[in-house]
Amino acid sequence: ATPDLADRYGRAATDLRLSLTDFCNLRCTYCMPASGLTFLNKEQMLSAEEVVHLVRVGVERLGIEQVRFTGGEPLTRPDLEEIIAGVAALSPRPDISLTTNAIGLDHRAERLRDAGLDRINVSLDSVVSETFERLSRRPLLHRVLAGIDGARESGMDPIKVNSVLLPGVNDHELPELLDWCLARDLQLRVIEQMPLDADHIWDRSSMITAADVHGLLAERYLLTPVDEERHGAPAELFEVTDRANGAHRGRVGIIASVTRPFCADCRRTRLTAEGRVRTCLFSREETDLRGALRSGGDDEAIAETWRAAHWGKKAGHGMDQDDFVQPERPMSAIGG
Ligand code: GTP
Ligand code: 5AD
Ligand code: SF4
Repeated sequence: ATPDLADRYGRAATDLRLSLTDFCNLRCTYCMPASGLTFLNKEQMLSAEEVVHLVRVGVERLGIEQVRFTGGEPLTRPDLEEIIAGVAALSPRPDISLTTNAIGLDHRAERLRDAGLDRINVSLDSVVSETFERLSRRPLLHRVLAGIDGARESGMDPIKVNSVLLPGVNDHELPELLDWCLARDLQLRVIEQMPLDADHIWDRSSMITAADVHGLLAERYLLTPVDEERHGAPAELFEVTDRANGAHRGRVGIIASVTRPFCADCRRTRLTAEGRVRTCLFSREETDLRGALRSGGDDEAIAETWRAAHWGKKAGHGMDQDDFVQPERPMSAIGG
């Protein structure tokens, strides 16, 4: 057996993205339908103990070095602190991060940090209340902002902000949004919308591309590429200089999954909230690990099932191929 999570294209996964729930307290149009979805019940979802067990298999037997918890919204799990503490106690200890909408983070940031959370990325598409509500279908911008403040006060660093731009909704706000982030030492990453929404609203011809992002920022800012090894990270980074006064303001990232795919250097494996391996955001197959876990299967057998699944990882998302089919599972149930 191969020791690590290898695939037939010569890549090895060292980053685990683990969805802790498919539930969310927002209803962003590019992700979930207004009515919500049929969410998993508690019995279907991995327990805190099961999550830690599977991460332990990944860390001890498969070479996992980084764990990112996603959702749905991972803060809706009351046992998140317990999960993070369990993962932080593993050896070797992985880097632990969270992708979140930050709602409620003001009350939990310190406890999460104490439990072992290293970094957070906050999804925030607009700092204008009306736009935020139009995009997320909930009037909760103030709670997101309070959450970000709480995270900063707890000393979490860096804090990144993820924004998906939708044409005619928030794209025109981009220069302001970037200014807002830079002024607070938050690293903005602008994300190309991917075809993973439950309503199938994605449209290749009207989506905001990385090239559009450069165009939207060009009047106000000069962007120069950061000359650093990317290590398979989705974001391309740029130094930002204010054209008006030549001041260096910080960095911005662009995640161009559609127009500049980074699949050839992908280092990710994923687990769904019910304990199934997904080898790619866009994979059409999943491999169950929960069954073996609940029936007392030994760790090496679980590791071997995971390895076998990962060997089948596709070369890339295939969005440009004629036979591309959007996965059935929407973004909210994959975790991004
Ligand atoms: P760090 O670089 O560790 O800060 O995190 P990240 O950017 O990998 O994770 P995050 O959850 O913040 O994701 C940001 C965006 O990148 C989201 O839109 C994700 O869906 C997208 N993304 C993350 N991983 C992948 C991937 O494997 N493939 C593609 N195409 N997009 C990804
Ligand atoms: N395309 C691109 N990014 C998306 N996200 C959610 N849905 C989509 C989509 N259809 C982003 C969220 C979050 C991250 C995990 O994925 O904004 O920051
Ligand atoms: Fe990796 Fe799939 Fe994302 Fe490409 S789309 S970077 S293969 S997870």
